[in-house]
Amino acid sequence: MHSAVIDSRAHDRDNGTQSRPDLSVTVGDLVLGNPVMPASGCFGPELAPLIPFERLGAVVTKTVFARRRAGNPAHRLAETSHGMLNSVGIPSPGSDGFRSGLLRRYQAGGTHVIVSIGGLVASEYYEVAEDLADEDIAAFEINVSCPNLEQGGLAIGTSAERVAEVVSGIKELVAVPLFVKLTPTVSSISEIARAAQDAGAAALVVANSFSGLSINLRNRSSTLGTGAGGYTGPGIKPLALKLVHDAAAAVTIPVIGCGGISTAADVAEFMIAGATAVQIGTATFTRPTTMIEVIDDLGPLCEALNVRNISELIGTMDNRVTTGLSL
Ligand SMILES: Cc1cc2nc3c(=O)[nH]c(=O)nc-3n(C[C@H](O)[C@H](O)[C@H](O)COP(=O)(O)O)c2cc1C
Repeated sequence: MHSAVIDSRAHDRDNGTQSRPDLSVTVGDLVLGNPVMPASGCFGPELAPLIPFERLGAVVTKTVFARRRAGNPAHRLAETSHGMLNSVGIPSPGSDGFRSGLLRRYQAGGTHVIVSIGGLVASEYYEVAEDLADEDIAAFEINVSCPNLEQGGLAIGTSAERVAEVVSGIKELVAVPLFVKLTPTVSSISEIARAAQDAGAAALVVANSFSGLSINLRNRSSTLGTGAGGYTGPGIKPLALKLVHDAAAAVTIPVIGCGGISTAADVAEFMIAGATAVQIGTATFTRPTTMIEVIDDLGPLCEALNVRNISELIGTMDNRVTTGLSL
């Protein structure tokens, strides 16, 4: 712990006052000031006037491909009850365009930068990872879980062998820590989580969006340009929470929880289920300042839960059968 933190604790003790709860968490080699970061694709540097980036535990970029791509045809977004569907299809400026433009703007934010990378086939992941490996970035987040791609995406993320191939292939090429973002669309998240860990992942992100569909009754077609899309937002929270619980039980590396989080209480639930940190996506579209409000609420919540350091919450779920009655 930083000596200034220890000094201020001692000062508080001597004065008989209580210091604020410590919100820092450690993900692999990375020490985050707090466990809150944006989910890939739901946040960009254009939010800087509304969000002090330096207050975020980290920023996570939109998924970058090695080469420029346009993404999917309209319509790309549809509102649903309890969440939204998207079929954005990962438009990308390519690694060169990203490096000279967006990356510099993320880096100016004053917190860790985690760069999400993607590809349609394994060799494209290797290409983008090598292109960006010399940049000042805290980690790569390997997106093997996008449901909206013409190729790759779920075909990679649902196979333990293909996940291992992509992760170990990148690991051989670059020294940057690798976080692996898993798909929820699997029968055993534990198997894929272990495959990613064994291939060299430093952390997992659980999880990406669920495959979903919405229908326009007037013409009986999908409301999205590509048919199906990714379902996100409050409706997926209990599903993501279960996946985090199962993944965290299967591995020893940290798990970053993602799916339907919008309050400090949600963050605490994910941490109790086993997450070390969290990502917030769809809630930012509804209220751009959500992440900052959540961070502001975490200290008082820790006090209410009687923890001095938020990391004390991680994986503390009581797995005994209960009556289901809440206090
Ligand atoms: C409009 C939109 C774009 C997204 N783009 C990406 C992306 O580029 N890469 C990625 O890994 N996940 C992407 N996601 C998925 C989110 O990062 C996140 O996993 C998902 O939305 C679940 O979290 P939430 O319920 O808090 O939104 C996107 C989600 C949305 C809604």
